[in-house]
Amino acid sequence: MIPVNEPLLGSREKELLIQCIDTGWVSSEGPFVKQFEESFSSYIGVEHGVAVCNGTAALETALYAAGIGKGDEVIMSTFTIISCAFAVLRLGAKPILVDIEPETWNMDVNQIESKITPLTKAIMTVHIYGHPVDMDPVLYIAKKHNLTIIEDAAEVHGAEYKGRKAGSIGHISSFSFYANKIITTGEGGMVLTNDNKMSKRAFSYRNLGFQRDRRFYHTELGYNFRMTNLQAALGVAQMERIEELVSFKRRMGDYYREILSDIQGLRFQIEKPWAKTVYWMYSIEIDESVGIQAGEMIEKLRSHEIGSRPFFLGLHEQPVFHDMGLFVGERYSIAERASRYGLYLPSGMTLTKSQVDFVCDTFKTLI
Ligand SMILES: Cc1ncc(COP(=O)(O)O)c(C=O)c1O
Repeated sequence: MIPVNEPLLGSREKELLIQCIDTGWVSSEGPFVKQFEESFSSYIGVEHGVAVCNGTAALETALYAAGIGKGDEVIMSTFTIISCAFAVLRLGAKPILVDIEPETWNMDVNQIESKITPLTKAIMTVHIYGHPVDMDPVLYIAKKHNLTIIEDAAEVHGAEYKGRKAGSIGHISSFSFYANKIITTGEGGMVLTNDNKMSKRAFSYRNLGFQRDRRFYHTELGYNFRMTNLQAALGVAQMERIEELVSFKRRMGDYYREILSDIQGLRFQIEKPWAKTVYWMYSIEIDESVGIQAGEMIEKLRSHEIGSRPFFLGLHEQPVFHDMGLFVGERYSIAERASRYGLYLPSGMTLTKSQVDFVCDTFKTLI
């Protein structure tokens, strides 16, 4: 089976993990946590990094740090992982949705302003499948209406918008280091911000509301969202090769594109002139005229031992939210089409050129 994803882990990762075991530093107090926070935040170009246990926790921590709470509204794309809406709802706020634009599957920034109400507090820009959101219009709108921008950069380590790294453009950002991300810590996440106050709130939220200067004195609610030294050891080792991993993804994406571009009826995420994409996953949307939906294609690929995955199902189509009375009757046609006809192909860090050739030949035959 060609897996849809596989991380690249080697002797350096092993060496640093062994150091954790030899020294006994296995929990979150160990030195790799700080080291990882420093190397990742400086790579993205942001002052503070607060490592947490996964990307979902990072989202909630970032929203909390940005002061999002009961009754607030947060505008986001419907086409994203459920974590984005869960994080907003857990803080007592409400997700407000917009559709995507068809070329990158990122939020359609032209729809944001029509969704602003007196309750709107933030815009969450989720950079999808490796490609950054068009941030200038979002920055303009946020400034005009005094809104906070939270970037979900889980899928875009190393991607750039007009020369700036995704995750360094809004007021605060969150990352995931799950095994399928550009760099991985197994499970893991991080919150990044240049704002001292937000960084303090994130630091406290991830650790039961503890404060830096007075132990066992709590003024706010918190969680145990801490990252372990074991996870951070992997992060430190992965940071030593992040450029190599990003270049690999870009080469992979270019190669897929080159081979698949002559097939009629496919839509690809095309790199905008202002973007540097990192092809987190090589993603394709089959045109409706071809007459095959993603689910069927995924089954066919599986029978040829090729792993692939469907696109997200829009938040507005999730039964969990309908049961809560949210998004009932809302329609977002571009996201609906993408979720039915979109899939991503094997994109792991160990993928070989001949595997891509095999995947593309099979895909062409099937289509
Ligand atoms: C855009 C986005 N945000 C958040 C997450 C959540 O990250 P995690 O799985 O580490 O909780 C993911 C996970 O894949 C994601 O793709």
